[in-house]
Amino acid sequence: MKAISIGLLGLGTVGSGVVKIIKNHQDKLMHQVGCPVVIKKILVQDLHKNRPVDVETGLLTSNADEILFDEEIDVVIEVMGGVQETKDYLISALQQGKHVVTANKDLMALHGSELLTVASEHGCDLFYEASVAGGIPILRGLVDGLASDRITQMMGIVNGTTNYILTKMSDEGRSYEGVLKEAQELGFAEADPTADVEGLDAARKMTILATLGFSMHIDLDDVKVSGISNITEEDLRYGKQLGYTMKLIGYAHREGEKVEVSVAPTFLSNNHPLASVQNEYNAVYVYGEAVGETMFYGPGAGSLPTATAVVSDLVGVMKNLRLGVNGRSAVTPQYQKRLKDNGE
Ligand code: NAP
Ligand code: HSE
Repeated sequence: MKAISIGLLGLGTVGSGVVKIIKNHQDKLMHQVGCPVVIKKILVQDLHKNRPVDVETGLLTSNADEILFDEEIDVVIEVMGGVQETKDYLISALQQGKHVVTANKDLMALHGSELLTVASEHGCDLFYEASVAGGIPILRGLVDGLASDRITQMMGIVNGTTNYILTKMSDEGRSYEGVLKEAQELGFAEADPTADVEGLDAARKMTILATLGFSMHIDLDDVKVSGISNITEEDLRYGKQLGYTMKLIGYAHREGEKVEVSVAPTFLSNNHPLASVQNEYNAVYVYGEAVGETMFYGPGAGSLPTATAVVSDLVGVMKNLRLGVNGRSAVTPQYQKRLKDNGE
């Protein structure tokens, strides 16, 4: 029973969570996929930094080629962030036949279709559940759970940092700057939190959700975006006095072939279910023609919740490897054989 060998790109907030879950849930992983999971190498920038998780120093490298071109590595997990350099790394990994799991919404919103094409050309899986709404399995929910329905609208809170800031400013009267700093210390915010507070992170997630939910290509540039950096404690206090709570709301709507996607701070009536979503938690309403209204809720950021989504994607890759198939909704070998026999 050969172990599955992992190359990890990044050992920050999410990467440390991934190491912990792989170590602490080895029995569960073994049960799910029938073989041990071993982290063979970890890419970081600073080899000498103190880490929130114990790893042998020999595992760390600052040379990506030691992962991308190591023939023994089966799966690359990307939790380093960034776009251009990261895209180059993932394309190299896929071209080497390695499966990829990523938490990177910036990359998937901008270059997802190109990366998915490269993955499919090389018979590799590329899974990215953690890129939207942290620990909530919403992409799987859309792609698998609601596969038979026609999604018409999605609306919700998809950024943990801004929800944390708005919650603390509104409930505790704290300053924007102080709470933002705390969200950074807790590992919710991006390395540069501008993307969080200006709504771009939420826009990227809404682009991914709309692309998957509506099964059509959505361009990030077409999303109307405004963030929360100009919101004052006074705005929130006045809203509260009138019975309203402010949330950064992502919205995606389709009518026929016409699609509208936006992100904006919005006053919700205090009795609206999204008004009670607190701190770094996310929640998304998904409306389908047949199912009606569904709601996905849970922790939208943070080390272990996000790492849960990453490692669950890894389990998906490993199950596919065992079956010899690719894709999120893997087809059975019998079905593959039927397609082959039919010359499809
Ligand atoms: P982070 O704490 O800043 O960690 C990034 C890690 O990647 C660090 O270990 C860093 O190395 C390494 N790294 C960054 N650039 C590198 C480079 N050019 N070469 C080598 N190593 C590099 O970030 P994070 O919060 O874990 O987020 C990682 C990814 O997950 C991002 O795409 C983010 O958007 C996404 N994500 C984060 C969350 C969350 O709650 N934090 C949730 C969902 C998705 P050093 O440690 O040596 O600096
Ligand atoms: N910075 C992001 C957020 C991390 O606050 O939602 C999770 O994607």
